[in-house]
Amino acid sequence: MTNFEKIFTEIPETEASATGRVNLLGEHTDYNDGFVMPTAIPQSTTVQLGLSNDLQHHFYSEDLDELVTILETNHTPSGFGSYIFGCLQLLEKEGHKIPPLNIYVKSSVPIGSGLSSSAALEVATLRGVRSRFDLPIDDIQIAQLAQQAEIIYAGVQCGIMDQMASSLADPEHILFLDTRTLERQVLPFPSGAEIVVMDSGVPRTLATSGYNQRRAECEEAAHLLRVKALRDITDPNMVEELPEPLRRRSRHVVTENNRVLEALQGISAQRFGELMNASHASLRDDYEVSVPALDTLVAMLQETAGVFGARLTGAGFGGACVALVEAGRGNAIAIDVLQRYNSAGNNGRILVPQVT
Ligand code: GLA
Repeated sequence: MTNFEKIFTEIPETEASATGRVNLLGEHTDYNDGFVMPTAIPQSTTVQLGLSNDLQHHFYSEDLDELVTILETNHTPSGFGSYIFGCLQLLEKEGHKIPPLNIYVKSSVPIGSGLSSSAALEVATLRGVRSRFDLPIDDIQIAQLAQQAEIIYAGVQCGIMDQMASSLADPEHILFLDTRTLERQVLPFPSGAEIVVMDSGVPRTLATSGYNQRRAECEEAAHLLRVKALRDITDPNMVEELPEPLRRRSRHVVTENNRVLEALQGISAQRFGELMNASHASLRDDYEVSVPALDTLVAMLQETAGVFGARLTGAGFGGACVALVEAGRGNAIAIDVLQRYNSAGNNGRILVPQVT
C-alpha cells in the first residue's frame, strides 16, 4: 500500500516533482529586474494527487505529518497548505475548473535554508494539476503562477528566480535568466569546477526577515534615481548621491548585476570564484543580509585549498551557502569544512554533494 493510500484510502492518479535550486550569482537582483544564475539541486519535492470524494481539498505533508483540510474556499491555510491552495486558487482565477483534490507531499528540499522549498512545492503542485487535467499552460506560466502564489498567499514580495529555476533549471547546467525579459541561456559550469552547498544551521524565515523591507528600499532608490528599476543603472557611481541605506543597497544590486554579466561571458572557475567572494562581501556589507554564522562558514570555505569562491545563497538572514570548488574534490572539502565548522559549536550540514 502506498503512503497516499494510507492517508486517503485510494490510489493516486498523478505524480509530479520539482527540484529546489541554489543560486550561484545574482542575489537580490530579481525583484530589481536584474540577472540571476541559479542551478537545480538534486533534492526535490514530489506531489501525488487524486480526486477528493468529499467537497473539500485535503493536503498531507509526509515530512511535517500534517493534514490540512480546506473547509471554505475563502479560507487560506497557513504553512505548507498555503502554497498548494494558492496555486489551485490562481488556476481557478485563470478560468481552469479544479475539483476538490487529495494531495500528498513528500520533499527532500530542506525548509528554511534558502534553497526554494516553497518554489519546489508550488511547481510540483502545478505540474501535477496540469498533467491530471491536461491544462494548456507551459513551464514559464507555471513559474509565473507559482510566483503569484508565493506573493499573494504566502505574503513574500519575491521575484521570479526561484520559480523559474524550479521550473526550468537542471543540476548539470547554470541557468542564466534576465528577470525583466525572461530571456535565458543554459550554460555549462566553469571548466574544472563543481559546487558544494552547506547549510549554516541558522534557519531563516523569508516573510519575517527584512526581505520585503529590502525590496521596498530598492524601489525607493529606483524612484529617486528616476529609473523603472535598479537594473537600469549600470554604473555604480550613479548611486553615490543617494541617502543611506539606499546608497549601499543600490550599490549591491548594481555591482551584483555587473558580476552576473561578467560571468555570462564564459570565464574561468578562478574568476567565477572571485565574483562569488565579491558577491558575499557585498551582501554582507552593503545589503546587510548575512549573519555571523554564515560569514564564518563562507570564510572557512574561501580559505580552504581547492575552493575557487563561496558566498551565501538565497535571501540570506541564515540558511545555506554555496562554493565553487575543484571538480572531484567537493565531497572531501565539504567534510573537512563541516568538521571544523561544527567543532566550533555550530550545527551545519552538507547538502550538495549528497551523501549516498
Ligand atoms: C528569495 C526570493 C527570490 C530572490 C532571492 C534573493 O529566494 O524568493 O525571488 O529574491 O530571495 O536573491
